[in-house]
Amino acid sequence: MNVIVTGAAGLVGAEVCARLAAAGHGVIAMTHRRTTVADQSTTPFTRLAVDITRPDLGLTPRQVDQLCGGRCTVVHAAAVTEFGRDDGVYDAVNVRGTAHVLALARRGEMPFVHVSTAYVCGEHDGSFANGYERSKAAAESLVHGSGLDVVVIRPSIVVGTESTGAIRVFRNIYVMLRLIAEGKVGTLPGRYDACLDLVAVDRVADLVTDAAHRFGEVRGQTLPAIAGRPVTLRECSEVFAEYPSLRAPRFVPPEVFRLDTLPPTQRRYHDRVVRLYEPYFRRRTTFDDSATRAFHRRRPALTGVAHLRRLLDYCLAIGYLR
Ligand SMILES: NC(=O)c1ccc[n+]([C@@H]2O[C@H](COP(=O)([O-])OP(=O)(O)OC[C@H]3O[C@@H](n4cnc5c(N)ncnc54)[C@H](OP(=O)(O)O)[C@@H]3O)[C@@H](O)[C@H]2O)c1
Repeated sequence: MNVIVTGAAGLVGAEVCARLAAAGHGVIAMTHRRTTVADQSTTPFTRLAVDITRPDLGLTPRQVDQLCGGRCTVVHAAAVTEFGRDDGVYDAVNVRGTAHVLALARRGEMPFVHVSTAYVCGEHDGSFANGYERSKAAAESLVHGSGLDVVVIRPSIVVGTESTGAIRVFRNIYVMLRLIAEGKVGTLPGRYDACLDLVAVDRVADLVTDAAHRFGEVRGQTLPAIAGRPVTLRECSEVFAEYPSLRAPRFVPPEVFRLDTLPPTQRRYHDRVVRLYEPYFRRRTTFDDSATRAFHRRRPALTGVAHLRRLLDYCLAIGYLR
């Protein structure tokens, strides 16, 4: 099987490329600015620089013809994933970029595995917490309306592996973890019974890879890639407190949280970072992954607080946290 992977240098895309190549599939790894996909000595594949915001991803007509004649499956994992970007950026990359990748796939009648997010569910009133979630929901609608054979994978919050806690890049939720652990933000708006669903990157990559490999079994399905058990903010706070060098966060219900009572430095971090994550500190959303479990029988080895401890152990071992 030949597989085109967009976002191939990203957290999820690189792991998917490595798995597909190790299983003997032909991999066309589409990268953008960053180019390191995986260790090419063990997993050789073709790398192609693209920009999904451009029609035909910025490829030449000849390159497009070659791809479309290659009987490929597409795994679309490229996206802007950081919070706090302008809506225009999310629209250009996550929505119109997905439309461009779909157009390429349609021309070659390629099966399409789309990496979405569990949080396309939005808030209980149907609104979205931020422009990222809104754009991912719009992209998913395009995928469903494309007329292609599709599988949608919906990861929750992607973190380090189950076995070691390792992760290639410390972004998104990890920035928040560090601010909390260093005491730069001690008091946050949130509910102790809110749930964070932290899913291991290896679990997400295994599921995406299997969906591409066994596409026929899951054609048309939406498969959440979630933790076996989410952690509550109370559990997070208690786990942080187990580590003598880490500060434990205190959560104050959003309706009584007062920014003006915080020291000026904490207020600055709140404005720049905490407010982006605030919706995740009050949501009690849980996800139904019965369709995923029916397809992908491997159960998470480590979930909940045990996995959180492993993530923190790894961050401490390599010096991301002190
Ligand atoms: N990480 C999570 O917690 C999480 C949770 C749920 C769902 N997801 C979804 O999972 C997928 C993979 O996420 P990830 O964590 O692997 O994200 P990531 O590490 O940020 O990787 C995203 C990749 O997309 C590429 N990209 C961005 N703009 C592009 C453009 N204009 N043209 C081509 N490629 C472009 C990036 O390349 P450059 O960096 O070189 O620009 C990057 O390699 C995304 O669809 C994301 O929405 C992620």
